[in-house]
Amino acid sequence: MSTGGETGGETGGKARGQTGGQTGSQTGGATAAKRVALMISGSGSNMVALAESMAGDHPARPVLVLSNVPDAGGLAKAEALGIATAVVDHRAFKGDRPGFEAALTAALEAAAPDVICLAGFMRILTRRFTGRWAGRVLNIHPSLLPKYPGLHTHARALDAGDAEAGCSVHEVTEDLDGGPVLGQARVPVLPGDTPDSLAARVLVEEHKLYPAVLRRFVAGDRTPVLLG
Ligand code: GRF
Repeated sequence: MSTGGETGGETGGKARGQTGGQTGSQTGGATAAKRVALMISGSGSNMVALAESMAGDHPARPVLVLSNVPDAGGLAKAEALGIATAVVDHRAFKGDRPGFEAALTAALEAAAPDVICLAGFMRILTRRFTGRWAGRVLNIHPSLLPKYPGLHTHARALDAGDAEAGCSVHEVTEDLDGGPVLGQARVPVLPGDTPDSLAARVLVEEHKLYPAVLRRFVAGDRTPVLLG
């Protein structure tokens, strides 16, 4: 989901790398690879799954990992993968969401992405951002949307007594976790599950679902991917 806490203050907008994934070539009449930017706030396990999927004959390559958290664990993973990274620290923009979103957009524009994957990016994005990048932004959310938009999805599924849970990849619009669903994966809820045990089971599926949806999406195919 693209929601998260709101805390205060420091620097922002620091680019931290020049390398990037290969961007493809047009030699020999081949089509240039689509450029994919990945936005993270945390450990970046979905980012790694996506980045590692973009290899070989995949029609896309990762060109930027952008974090709003300067010490997000995913940044070091991106650097290890040879992907350019940038940080726009939301705390430098306390009370100035337009400024924060403008800085995100500037960092993205420098990378010229065809597609932007939110991968554990934990800030709300308004129409200023979603409108600028309309039709190009995907997000993974740990519930079977339209159930449980927002936070604490696994606890909510357990509280409701649901027999199954899962995750969804959707297009990002101004409606929080409300854009068109492009894929879902299902897992059973097991006796004795806690929010953490359920989250771990769902995360395994996230790492399969998101790359599958991205591959279809960059090929221009919006047919939903259904797993599980
Ligand atoms: C995932 O569960 C994702 O669905 C949610 O935040 C978590 C991010 O995990 N939006 P990671 O940073 O990809 O490991």
